[in-house]
Amino acid sequence: MIPQEIIRAKRDGRVLADDDIATFIAGLTNGAVTEGQAAAFAMAVYFKGMNIAERVALTKAMRDSGTVLHWDLPGPVLDKHSTGGVGDTVSLMLAPMVAACGGYVPMISGRGLGHTGGTYDKMESIPGYVAAPTMAKFHKVVAANGCAIIGQTADLAPADKRLYGIRDVTATVESIGLITASILSKKLAAGLHGLAMDVKCGNGAFMPTLPKARELARSIAEVATGAGLPTTALITDMDRPLADAAGNALEVAYAVDYLTGARREPRMHEITLALCTEMLLHGRLARTPKAARTMLQAALDSGAAAEKFGEMVVALGGPKRFVENPWKHLERSPLQMAVAPARAGTISRIDTRAVGMVVVALGGGRTRPQDPVDHAVGLTELAGLGDQVGPDRPLAVVHARTEAQVAQATELLRAAYTVGGKPAKPFDPVLDRITV
Ligand code: URA
Repeated sequence: MIPQEIIRAKRDGRVLADDDIATFIAGLTNGAVTEGQAAAFAMAVYFKGMNIAERVALTKAMRDSGTVLHWDLPGPVLDKHSTGGVGDTVSLMLAPMVAACGGYVPMISGRGLGHTGGTYDKMESIPGYVAAPTMAKFHKVVAANGCAIIGQTADLAPADKRLYGIRDVTATVESIGLITASILSKKLAAGLHGLAMDVKCGNGAFMPTLPKARELARSIAEVATGAGLPTTALITDMDRPLADAAGNALEVAYAVDYLTGARREPRMHEITLALCTEMLLHGRLARTPKAARTMLQAALDSGAAAEKFGEMVVALGGPKRFVENPWKHLERSPLQMAVAPARAGTISRIDTRAVGMVVVALGGGRTRPQDPVDHAVGLTELAGLGDQVGPDRPLAVVHARTEAQVAQATELLRAAYTVGGKPAKPFDPVLDRITV
C-alpha cells in the first residue's frame, strides 16, 4: 500500500500487515514518506494503538533502517535501558559490574531528555573521554574491556531518529506502541543477547502510575522477546530522586564512590543489583538470582568493577587513575550553597520532576536539543522522603556558577519539597518484575 492508504487503514482501526509497516518505515528512512504523513501515521497509532504483532514488525523495520551491530565475543552481549529519571546513575555502575562478571556491555546511551539526566552527558563530564568514538574503536574497547559507554550514533535505527523528532513536536510521544518500538529498535540494532529494562514509575518518571508503567513494561518485554531479544523489565520507584546527587559531574563522582565502596546508598544498591542480576541471568553467567548477587558483590568488594570503570575511561581517552581521585579531574562549580527549608519538619513528598528541573535551570540539562550542558552544576545531599530537615539539615546543597542561580534554585527546591504532613511508608524500590 502507498503511505496514505496505510495511514487510512490505521486511522480506521485496522491491523497493519508486516509488509505495509516495513514499506512505511522504508519510506520514512529514504524520504519517500513526508513529514506530514509521518505525523499523521503517529497520530493514527496514538489513537488506534497497535497489537503486539504490529509492534514487533514496527520495531524490526526500524531496527533494519540502519546498521545492525554483530559481535564475536567469548561471552554474552548484554545491556540495560532506563526510561529515564532523576539521580539515576545505575548505568555507570552496572556496565563495569556486569563486565567484571564476564558479560560484554556495549552501552549506547542517550542525552538528557526534559527533566531526566542522560548517561551520555554524564560521561562527557570526564575530561578527554570520547563518548562518540568510531564504531571500530567502540568494538575494540568492548572486546578488550568488557564494557564501553558511548552516545547514540546516527547510523543506528535512523528511522526512529526521524520519527521521534516528528513525534516530539506533534504530541505523539506518549503512545505505548511507539515508545516500545522506539526504544527496542535501537537495542536490537546494538546486537544484544539479553536486555534488562528499568521502567521508572512515579512523579519523576515518564509513566507516573503503576498501571501505566506495567503496561509499558509488559509491551517492552513481549515485543523484545517476540523480536528475538530476551528481556525482563523491572518497574522501579521514581517518586524520589534515586541518588542523593543530580547533575553530570556530581553523578559521575557518586558512581565512583559506589564502585569503590566509599558510599553505597541502600535503595541505589538494591536497584543496581536487581538490574545486574537480570542481565547475568539472561547471559547465563549465573544460574540463580542468589548466585548472581554473590558474583556482583564480589566484583564490587574485590575492586574489579571499579577497575573496569577506570580502564574504560582510559580506553576512551579519559585520565589515568580516574577512580582513585575523580575530583582531581572533574570540574567543580564555583559556588556550593546549602538550601535550608522554609520551615523545619519531616519530608512527606518530593516533586521529583521539579528537582530534575532545578538541575536544568542551573544549566545541567537542556531546554533545546542543540544547547550545551554545564557539567559542573547540580545538587548534592538531597534530603529523602521521611528525612527531618531544619536549620541543621538542608534540603540540598546547590552547585552553581552565580548567586542568581543559587537564589532561583533555592526557590524551586523549596517548592519541590513538601515539609510536614504524613510521610509515605517506606517501600521496596523495585515495584514489580515483568517477564514473558
Ligand atoms: N525513549 C526513546 O528512545 N523513545 C521513546 O519513544 C521514548 C523514550
